[in-house]
Amino acid sequence: MSSKSKVLFERAKKILPGGVNSPVRAYAPYPFFVESAQGSKMTDADGKAYVDYCMAYGALLLGHANAEILDAVKNQLSKGTLYGAPTEREVEFAELIKKSSPCMEMMRLVNSGTEATMHAIRTARGYTGRKKIIKFEGCFHGSHDSVLVKAGSGATTFAAPNSLGIPEETTQNTIVLPYNDVEALEATFKREGSEIAAVIVEPVLANVGLILPKKDYLNYLRKITSEYGAVLIFDEIITGFRLALGGAQEYFNVKPDMATLGKVLGGGFPLAAFGGKKEIMMNISPVGKVYQAGTFSGNPVSATAGFTILSILNQRKNQIYPKLEKNAAELSKALTDLSAAHNLHTQVYSIASLYQIFFTNKPITDYGCAKHSDLQMFTAYFQELLKQGVFIPPSQFETCFVSTAHSDEDLEFTINAFDKALAAASKEHKPR
Ligand SMILES: Cc1ncc(COP(=O)(O)O)c(C=O)c1O
Repeated sequence: MSSKSKVLFERAKKILPGGVNSPVRAYAPYPFFVESAQGSKMTDADGKAYVDYCMAYGALLLGHANAEILDAVKNQLSKGTLYGAPTEREVEFAELIKKSSPCMEMMRLVNSGTEATMHAIRTARGYTGRKKIIKFEGCFHGSHDSVLVKAGSGATTFAAPNSLGIPEETTQNTIVLPYNDVEALEATFKREGSEIAAVIVEPVLANVGLILPKKDYLNYLRKITSEYGAVLIFDEIITGFRLALGGAQEYFNVKPDMATLGKVLGGGFPLAAFGGKKEIMMNISPVGKVYQAGTFSGNPVSATAGFTILSILNQRKNQIYPKLEKNAAELSKALTDLSAAHNLHTQVYSIASLYQIFFTNKPITDYGCAKHSDLQMFTAYFQELLKQGVFIPPSQFETCFVSTAHSDEDLEFTINAFDKALAAASKEHKPR
């Protein structure tokens, strides 16, 4: 463990709550502090390198410090970083998003996924004139008030799925249902369908580990929301440009009314987008009465990085996506095989470039199942991986991400580390 990181963490804790600027970055005994990153690897303050499968929580599809993105951004930097006035780049970028992502007839660029989902929900409420929204247990849609109810990611890791500081009145219009449960959805729509403005969903639930939608679940969401005139919002902050160029919409061939995009979209810079059907988006100010604004929205630096990564993905999608999927499948197969070799009951899931392991003998189909997996075994697995030089998100309630920068050597190195990490996990196993 890195001693410089320990010193930095002690210093950080005095000035930043928990020593971090986002809770998911904190873990015991202290997180490593990053000195630099390149390709598939990050190097900490003491010079130790880690093969990285956190990839900034899924933001870096092409790995760290991609040369093409850096060149484009350097070129933009010399022309200014922020104008507070429109640019051609924003327009061509939005056109490229529309070309890649089937439902985005019109959109707004913002700076974070949190902003994107907040504004998408407001827009859906403004458009329908209804107040209620449905979200699903364990889905994480950022850290704004109306969706921090039974939220996944850090909210679950740190046992605060319902945050303090949010008045009950704010969340009384948020209906929370189990993911993958068609009956619960049908009953809710039958009861109060005419009051429901929107259903917001992570099409693949990637914020409590990785949970895949049951067959036809997304089609069912499409059908019932159309029937009752509610807006279907796919939160594609993780799945967008990751499951396929056109995200979950393309992968599952289901077209929502609205989508939120972020992470990969910014090419490593702060950028997100929300958008959808023109008739919905035309309700936004200054053409409509739903208000949304942002000083840094569509800034030329982030827009350049985003435009560059989308150009790369459009040009090379036929090589990039099959390779990513193959690599994630290889890692998850290794986890499955090695679990058997260590006599461990685990569930391993992967889709496109996402994968995750759960320490349990029961299939994971929703938040409740995910919470009952063995967290102590996961922690032992995580800590041993770290020791071996492999970094994954430090919580069971996150997902691992493969990038195009991961090489065959990285995979081999990682599989060796998996072997040792599963051995460490098996020592924690207590029959329940
Ligand atoms: C599905 C999903 N939606 C929204 C967000 C919020 O995005 P941001 O952290 O950029 O605010 C996240 C972040 O992890 C996410 O995974």
